[in-house]
Amino acid sequence: MIVCICNNVKDRQIKAAMASGIDSMKALQNALDVTNCCGCCEPMINDLLEEHHANQSDLVSQLAYAV
Ligand code: FES
Repeated sequence: MIVCICNNVKDRQIKAAMASGIDSMKALQNALDVTNCCGCCEPMINDLLEEHHANQSDLVSQLAYAV
């Protein structure tokens, strides 16, 4: 699904970037040019970032419990 229409950036590109450590709005802007035109994609990218960080927190909690 295309998230940033202006720059033809798809959700899977954003998720792949976040998985590789590009996991802040500024870093995504620099890497993929998202939000740098009309800005309409910013709320959806914020949602993806929140989901990503929530998943990371869950993983850290699970790892801490396992140790
Ligand atoms: S839709 Fe992303 S900058 Fe316009």
